[in-house]
Amino acid sequence: MPIPESIASQEWAEGLEFERSGPLRRALKATIVNPVANYFPAAVQRALFWCLRSELAAANWADPGGWKSMVICYQDLAENKRLADRLLCTLGTIPMALRNRRKLAARVLARLIASADHEPVEVLCLGAGPGHVVHDALVECGRLARATLVDLSDDAFDHGRRLAAECGTDGYVRFIQGDVRHVRSMLDRPPDIVQMMGICEYLDDAHIRDIAGAVADVMPQGSCVMFNSISAAHGTDRFFRRVFGLHLAHRTPQQLSDLMRPAGFNHFVALPEPLGVYHVIIGRKTSDGVPE
Ligand SMILES: C[S@@+](CC[C@H](N)C(=O)[O-])C[C@H]1O[C@@H](n2cnc3c(N)ncnc32)[C@H](O)[C@@H]1O
Repeated sequence: MPIPESIASQEWAEGLEFERSGPLRRALKATIVNPVANYFPAAVQRALFWCLRSELAAANWADPGGWKSMVICYQDLAENKRLADRLLCTLGTIPMALRNRRKLAARVLARLIASADHEPVEVLCLGAGPGHVVHDALVECGRLARATLVDLSDDAFDHGRRLAAECGTDGYVRFIQGDVRHVRSMLDRPPDIVQMMGICEYLDDAHIRDIAGAVADVMPQGSCVMFNSISAAHGTDRFFRRVFGLHLAHRTPQQLSDLMRPAGFNHFVALPEPLGVYHVIIGRKTSDGVPE
């Protein structure tokens, strides 16, 4: 499965409406919003979010970076009923960048599925949550594809089943509750595409290498892996650690690609979302552990 030429050009983003920050907004964040969020006493901020009954804060306290906080960030702002959540999701760079990442990743996944030379195309989604990216891609791709969604949390899948019913993708997705660090036991259908959006930032280097090795062992030549990097460009890492208890592993696209390469993935293409927080990266399996 070659990475389509168009993905390496600007065409990949055609028609996508990304969220962007103008110079004034960026300056306000850098000089006022982020320093306040990062350095105002964490206990006071936590108390404030508790008093304002922020669902985003509560979701992160219960499961830092879990699927519920992701869904709150994905929701239309009109659906975020709490004032605190509306503010966090509108002002926060990470929620905006997450929504951009979802659009970009779904587009890339849809293109990869569309470029396959056989059907059904098998997609394996690790740390899938309810599977927003894969449902979006299955709707867009216009091909017969089946997806296996793996996540630690089975309540993500209740939400995922409802989402699949809404999107018409039920029947094409299955859900496996499990730890992606044990992915070897979940590879009964050799994947043509492994999608690892929103998971590498919660894994250490050794686990990423192991997962890459396990999936590469069963993936056909030319199949693809896609994953994302996160940069500290959002400027609020200290806030997330102290107030939300969220510890993210920031890595460059190069560092992540270097972790995937020993398993036999090469020809990496890194696509930025416009806020510069996330890159969606695609690599192709060339030969068993030997770079082309
Ligand atoms: C930030 S969410 C990303 C969800 C989805 N991939 C997306 O981009 O919309 C991270 C997900 O990874 C899951 N997760 C974290 N560590 C995991 C592990 N070791 N094994 C399986 N799932 C894991 C969490 O339960 C959560 O649903």
